[in-house]
Parts: sequence; structure tokens; C-alpha cells
Amino acid sequence: MVKDGNNGAAEFLPDRLDLDSLRSAAACCEGCDLYRNATRTVFGEGPQQARFMLVGEQPGDQEDRQGHPFVGPAGRILDKGLQEAGIERGDVYLTNAVKHFSFTPRGKRRIHQKPTASEIDACRPWLNAELAAVRPEVVVVLGATAARSLLGRSFKVTRHRGEAVPLGDALAVATIHPSAVLRAPDRDAAYAGFLADLQAAARVA
Ligand code: URA
Ligand code: SF4
Repeated sequence: MVKDGNNGAAEFLPDRLDLDSLRSAAACCEGCDLYRNATRTVFGEGPQQARFMLVGEQPGDQEDRQGHPFVGPAGRILDKGLQEAGIERGDVYLTNAVKHFSFTPRGKRRIHQKPTASEIDACRPWLNAELAAVRPEVVVVLGATAARSLLGRSFKVTRHRGEAVPLGDALAVATIHPSAVLRAPDRDAAYAGFLADLQAAARVA
């Protein structure tokens, strides 16, 4: 079969579905057009035995440069929230719904663009494979893109945040994206809500 992109990630999945095989196969994914302009695939990271899987939107500028999820400003909010909710980093597998950075160039800057529905769909095989490999107890869904990928497009984060909903053998708890905390007019209130949702996720495990 000719691998010409835009057919989704499924045809790039390796035969063995452990995390190491998945990560190396994902490095060569051309399942949608995002691989063309981004620097690299940013795959999930964390122990296979993690009880928590956290799913963000997509790598940002820093993640694209460094090759690791949540190492920029949003990651600092996330780390603080996890620590304050008593969720240990060693118990967390961290990933994104979409594994390449989507942006539009503006001068020297690269402006984050929300991934499209078809990019989210194209990338879902990697996320499903990560779920199958890690088998987390609790999936923390960070924002609308991750919710769209995992819980369907009718799920509303604003309405159901902090609630435990079934997701395969796991329970999912949705919250706002840590970047939304940074953008909120009242950052303290937004952070407090975010933390409360992480605490709810911690109680579910
Ligand atoms: N935002 C995300 O959704 N994921 C990252 O890895 C970084 C920022
Ligand atoms: Fe493949 Fe996902 Fe990257 Fe698209 S965003 S090329 S589907 S890894």
C-alpha cells in the first residue's frame, strides 16, 4: 500500500503494541499533514504501570522543539496542579490527542492553531494504542480537543468537568486545559477550578 498521508495513523502502527515500539513507529507517522511543518512527533511519556493517563491537546512550540509533552508554560501549571492534588509524577503517563504541533508562522513566531476534527481523528489510533498499553485507572481529559477525541463531540467539558465517566475499563475525568488557566481573566479562580477537578480525579483512583 502506498502511504501518502491523510489516511490516518492506523497504517503506521507497529506489529508490537508496547510503548517503545509505538514511540518509534510514531516518529515516522505521516497519517495527516501536520508532520510536514512540525519538527518531530511528540509521543506520550511516563511509566507503563501509571494509574493516571493525562491527555492534552497537542504539543506547543516548546514541546515541538524539545520533543517532550508539557514542558512549556502549560506544563508548569499542570505540574503544580498535580503536585497540589497529590498525584505523583511517577504515577502519570502524559500524552496528547494530536502528536504534532499545528501552527501558522507569523514572522519568526509560530502561532498555535487548534487541530481540526480530521487531524484529531487521524491521530486517534496512537492515543487508543497508548490507552491499551498503559491501561490506566483514570484518564484525565485536559480540554475540549482531548474530550472530542476520547468522549465524542457531544461531550461538553464546561458542563461535565470533574465528573467520573466510563471510558473503556477506565474512568475519565475532564477538566479545562491548563493553557485556559493561563488565558483566563481571573487566573486564580480558573486555577482553583482546575485543581478541584484534578482532586476529583485523584479521589476516583
Ligand atoms: N499543550 C498541550 O495540550 N500539550 C502539550 O504537550 C503542551 C501544551
Ligand atoms: Fe501522525 Fe498524529 Fe502526527 Fe498526524 S498528528 S502525522 S496522525 S502523529
